[in-house]
Amino acid sequence: MTEWTKKTAALNTGGQIPLIGLGTWQSRPGEVEKAVEAALRAGYRHIDTALAYSNEAEVGKGIRASGVPREEIWITTKLDNPWHKRVKEGIETSLRNLGVDYVDLYLMHWPSSTTPEDPKKHYDDWDFVKTWAEMQRIPKTQARAIGVSNFGIRNLEKLLAAPTTTVVPAANQIELHPNNPSPKLVAYNESKGIHTTGYSCLGSTNSPLHKDPALLEIVEKTGKTSAQVLLKWGLQKGWSVIPKSVTESRIQGNFELDGWDLDEESIAKLDNMKDRFKVCGDSWLPVKVFFGDDE
Ligand SMILES: NC(=O)c1ccc[n+]([C@@H]2O[C@H](COP(=O)([O-])OP(=O)(O)OC[C@H]3O[C@@H](n4cnc5c(N)ncnc54)[C@H](OP(=O)(O)O)[C@@H]3O)[C@@H](O)[C@H]2O)c1
Repeated sequence: MTEWTKKTAALNTGGQIPLIGLGTWQSRPGEVEKAVEAALRAGYRHIDTALAYSNEAEVGKGIRASGVPREEIWITTKLDNPWHKRVKEGIETSLRNLGVDYVDLYLMHWPSSTTPEDPKKHYDDWDFVKTWAEMQRIPKTQARAIGVSNFGIRNLEKLLAAPTTTVVPAANQIELHPNNPSPKLVAYNESKGIHTTGYSCLGSTNSPLHKDPALLEIVEKTGKTSAQVLLKWGLQKGWSVIPKSVTESRIQGNFELDGWDLDEESIAKLDNMKDRFKVCGDSWLPVKVFFGDDE
């Protein structure tokens, strides 16, 4: 049986990303420091945050409060959309907020170079290809690896074909749960040596997945929680998972993933769930980024 909580995946940089991380989107001030501390004390060694979550400073406090040495922790943060023309300032701002010298992975949060003045406007003279060219210049002393998030196949093809692209993204962080499984995109990432991280792997806030009859059958059969089943599905499919919680008992429960696996029948059942929903669409962005090329 795999010890999932100790397992890492090798990135194309040689870095080793722990397969289970704590998500922090929508973790409110006053909650996220304790959540990060509780997760690290429970054994998590990977924390996912972003400049856009406005909580990097508190995440940093939680890391320090845990007493776990910095070098044992994998920190991922992300360049916010209105910062695409200010990559150097973006990473330096995140490092300052977090109170660390480097992050392990720095992601372009969305393939949208939104103007800082108007969130519904995209730059006329800039796009994610130029942002990536700037990200490639970030010193390794500040970001050990760089990657992307919310990239579909069309945008990845454009990025990889660009003459300015010399670095293949180390990771693509995308929405992944049984109602948004994206098998084509996951296979594409793998074919290019890009590690996949699944976000909203529990279906996010008020997730309908916890009440899905197919999932509840597996809960009944395994004696595991719906969250544990969802996380294990992602891990056994081959991606890293970053469940968010600010509830200590859930933070602990979501990490109880060692010593058991889902059988093939359960995985097939989860693979074949028919409902579809997406937590993070693109209607709030000035450009379309999802083209239905992931299934
Ligand atoms: N790259 C991107 O664009 C992007 C987009 C979305 C998310 N993300 C990242 O991925 C992380 C995870 O995604 P997410 O925050 O959307 O959602 P998620 O992890 O799928 O679900 C979080 C929700 O599930 C609840 N929960 C946690 N454990 C549970 C359990 N054992 N049983 C029942 N409910 C449970 C949490 O409640 P409590 O907190 O109240 O316990 C919260 O409401 C984010 O936090 C963020 O770091 C990235």
